[in-house]
Amino acid sequence: MQLPRERGPISRHVIGSLVRTQDEAGPIAIGAAEVLDDGDAQLALWILYELHYRGFDEVAEDREWDLGLLRLRKTLERRFEHELRRAVGSVPVASGTGDVSAQLLELIAADDSPPVAAFLHRTASREHIVDFLRERSVQQLKESDPQSFVLPRIGGAAKAALAELQYDEYGGGRPERLHSTLFADALRAAGLDDSYGAYTDDVSALSLANANAMSLFGLQRRLRGAAMGHLAAFEATSSVPARKIAAGIERVGLPDAVAAYFHEHVEADAVHEQVALHDICGRLVEEDPTLGADVLFGAATCLHLAALSGAELLERWSGELEVAS
Ligand SMILES: [Fe+2]
Ligand SMILES: [Fe+2]
Repeated sequence: MQLPRERGPISRHVIGSLVRTQDEAGPIAIGAAEVLDDGDAQLALWILYELHYRGFDEVAEDREWDLGLLRLRKTLERRFEHELRRAVGSVPVASGTGDVSAQLLELIAADDSPPVAAFLHRTASREHIVDFLRERSVQQLKESDPQSFVLPRIGGAAKAALAELQYDEYGGGRPERLHSTLFADALRAAGLDDSYGAYTDDVSALSLANANAMSLFGLQRRLRGAAMGHLAAFEATSSVPARKIAAGIERVGLPDAVAAYFHEHVEADAVHEQVALHDICGRLVEEDPTLGADVLFGAATCLHLAALSGAELLERWSGELEVAS
């Protein structure tokens, strides 16, 4: 993958450090502005995380452990996590005896995210659906990879359940059924570029933030509870929207391979929801009750970022509809 284009001083610093073959990146002050919806800060974080996934052409692989870049990543992550914790407020704290699955379900039931799937189902044009796929590509082409970082960090029943869920996400032994491959197929069939990172320059700060939150939780062992809570909320809010999105794709006449990704998630995620809620989060918190609060924080983060992204997309698309009418 090529390095993306800079979006401001922080991403310029990261890109500049990576293209130079010096030993260690120098320091940079990141200012006091919020990072959650800042394109420059989120792009910088996305690039820093990608060093732990696929890396970039012409960037030496050992830059993954460049101490200067790790220091910057830590600064950005602290700010990002702080803003997320502040934004989701005081989610109910799981006690040692509380049922975390029930608390997760309560949180998910109370979610009133903007109706993106309903819009894609009934109203969206072909261009809106293509736009939606493009925005999702920065995460879906590495679907389930952030959660794999958690496998060595947990044990027992929760580990076995996460491995079972990931096996499914990774195609059950069939490379053509990898969910990231199904998403690449959907991109191609919709006339988009399916190469990894192709749209990093085009997507919004919030699309990058959605992807980055999963990497933040996956790459920090202390946030393993948040990673699994995020996973549970993601799976539990996927099946019904996936059915609507598939119907919208068929309504506008895009090829079957585009809808196929979403059809796959109608049934798969109905099962994954149960596995993530009960067998992963339930058993994880049973084993270590101190993780309960972070499981709920992770779930609330998933819902919050999805709501922000949804509002952004609906606003963008409604503007286009007004111009067109
Ligand atoms: Fe999936
Ligand atoms: Fe899933």
